[in-house]
Amino acid sequence: MVESNMIIEEVTPQSGDYKIAKDIRERVLRKPLGLTFTEQDMAEDQADIHFIMKDPANGVVAGTVVMKPLSDSNWRLRQLAVEPKYQGQNIGGFLTRHCEGFARQKGAQKVILHSRLNVVKFYQNMGYVSVGEEFYEVGIPHFRMEKVL
Ligand SMILES: CC(C)(COP(=O)(O)OP(=O)(O)OC[C@H]1O[C@@H](n2cnc3c(N)ncnc32)[C@H](O)[C@@H]1OP(=O)(O)O)[C@@H](O)C(=O)NCCC(=O)NCCS
Repeated sequence: MVESNMIIEEVTPQSGDYKIAKDIRERVLRKPLGLTFTEQDMAEDQADIHFIMKDPANGVVAGTVVMKPLSDSNWRLRQLAVEPKYQGQNIGGFLTRHCEGFARQKGAQKVILHSRLNVVKFYQNMGYVSVGEEFYEVGIPHFRMEKVL
């Protein structure tokens, strides 16, 4: 997909588009691991900032990402998920860069994330570096990755 056509929207956890994005997260991130949303996940979502990207051709929600402030200088990017049929069309990269711009505007100096092992290369391409040892989260290996803005 051509980046000039991509539009990212911020949505609230009360909106219909948030529910569609949550469904993508459920199918793409949780279901393959045999997991589902917990009460704690839902509570965390209420406090965080949600972005979606829609296919400009038909308005279908193609991808989503969640941001949260950790401190004045650090923001965390989490739950990046692209609908399978839209993967490999620059949407994940575009959502990631959007989050970086958003965090920078808020005064952040760094974006931090926990990358699944199989996606480390994707984030390296985006300029993130891994920090520290591999660790387990949701039952699979992860690396903490950071990008100085
Ligand atoms: C990982 C994910 C978010 C990437 O989004 P995407 O829209 O498919 O990726 P893009 O098209 O923006 O890819 C950008 C670049 O990263 C590369 N890339 C994408 N996924 C990759 C992966 N898993 N491993 C290595 N490189 C990857 C692409 O080839 C592309 O490189 P290029 O610019 O040199 O061609 C998406 O595939 C996804 O939702 N995967 C399943 C959920 C997941 O694992 N989320 C991350 C949790 S930590």
